[in-house]
Amino acid sequence: MLNILNVTSEVIPFSKTGGLADVSFSLPSALSGLGHNVHTITPLYSTVDRQACGVSFTEQVVDVVLAGRLIQFGVFQATTPAGVKVFLLENHDLFTREGVYGTRDGAYGDNHLRFAFFCAAVFEVIKRFNLKVDVIHCHDWQSGLVPLFNRIRLQNQYRTVMTVHNMGYQGTFPGVIAPEIGIPWDVYNPDGVEFWGQVSFLKAGLVYSDRVTTVSPRYSREVLSPEMGYGMDGILRSLGNRFCGILNGVDYAQWNPETDELIAARFGIDDMSGKDVNRQALLRHFGLADSGGPLFGVVGRLAYQKGYDLLAGIIPKIVELGGMLVVLGTGERAVEDMIRTAAAGYPDRVSVKLEYSEAVAHTIEAGSDFFLMPSRYEPCGLNQMYSLRYGTIPVVHAVGGLDDTVIDVDADPAGGTGIKFSPFEFRAFCDAIERAARLFGDDVRFGEVRVRGMAKDFSWKNSAARYAELYQAVRK
Ligand code: ADP
Ligand code: GLC
Repeated sequence: MLNILNVTSEVIPFSKTGGLADVSFSLPSALSGLGHNVHTITPLYSTVDRQACGVSFTEQVVDVVLAGRLIQFGVFQATTPAGVKVFLLENHDLFTREGVYGTRDGAYGDNHLRFAFFCAAVFEVIKRFNLKVDVIHCHDWQSGLVPLFNRIRLQNQYRTVMTVHNMGYQGTFPGVIAPEIGIPWDVYNPDGVEFWGQVSFLKAGLVYSDRVTTVSPRYSREVLSPEMGYGMDGILRSLGNRFCGILNGVDYAQWNPETDELIAARFGIDDMSGKDVNRQALLRHFGLADSGGPLFGVVGRLAYQKGYDLLAGIIPKIVELGGMLVVLGTGERAVEDMIRTAAAGYPDRVSVKLEYSEAVAHTIEAGSDFFLMPSRYEPCGLNQMYSLRYGTIPVVHAVGGLDDTVIDVDADPAGGTGIKFSPFEFRAFCDAIERAARLFGDDVRFGEVRVRGMAKDFSWKNSAARYAELYQAVRK
């Protein structure tokens, strides 16, 4: 049995901007299910629904001093259904905001302070609550200073694992802020936290942790190139076998069409009749009449990474093929505007909701015929795996975790579960959409592909066991 402490900036049901929140919930749950003792530490944002999430005050306040500045955190707690104890750290100056990292106009200007103090607070919570810790598992740049502080403030008392969920987010700040957050100049160099004249929280995590992982095997190879590694490729290469890719899993307690309470009708491989009920419910929700053609769905952060510029361009093609498109997403203003503008010409066939809604995300997974993920890059991606379980055929750019989890129907007619395209170009995406429309027109094949996808098992079983092996390997 291992004592594992997760440090993460978002975790459902408390906070979520993307897949990190799903994984920060489901991986600890799976590890707890394997018999390990698992804790999680995360900020208590003002957007957390304390009552609904069972969050209560522990009556403890911890002091954190960085560079002579004192910040206090009220320590709150909640326990997840799987028995994972979550500590939530409250500080109004840092975490009482409209957003988690920023607004749609950009990131908050003091994120370095917010997350540096958060990282330093982790050690105070361990001490105050006398937590047994074999491994601290840090997620993404927001927890990147944990391994650094462990080295320079605690003489490497703890073993640390760093998981990079997205190499494109590095937590870089002007070098001058280093002294403000307790980073001494002697680690501000290329072998330490300095990254092209800036402080990088992610680099601190990569350099000072005992092991580094990312969230799919293919992405772990891709990031060894400068472009996909966003300049961190050299560091990752230097880690050798201390770096690996472990595929994310799916929490089928939440994403299962047989039990999903958020969808109009339950269905499964043995009884697909509910699938059409969901399609009609989805069209109604988005105010579209059924054209009888394929219904394409999209759910995602509207960010450059996701390749929605290709999506905007493909809309006329979808309409020409008799199809319909529903989009749910929030994110960068420029991407929102682009999607809205592209959709505006086809109000009968294309409907966009620029909002965040768990229920609508489930409605789209359940009701669509195809799910589009034309991501430029995708470390793992969860929605293609959710789609497979809901009989919604994924159409994806063959990259990262998308390539690892989807099998192309033409490359493998007997085993295919979706449609993949490459390279990341309009022509290739267009061809994929045409293939989807043809597949939709062939009832028998369409049904077979659907059911094959639904039978795939991406549960955490295997991946959680791989993390456990990794923790075991670094344990003192
Ligand atoms: P990423 O973490 O890069 O955003 P993932 O595919 O790993 O991509 O995970 C995205 C998660 O966020 C999924 O659970 C998806 O359903 C959810 N999601 C993204 N945007 C929205 C939205 N507007 N409303 C509801 N859920 C969303
Ligand atoms: C990131 C990635 C996504 C991955 C998620 C969870 O946000 O963009 O591909 O699925 O983290 O690991």
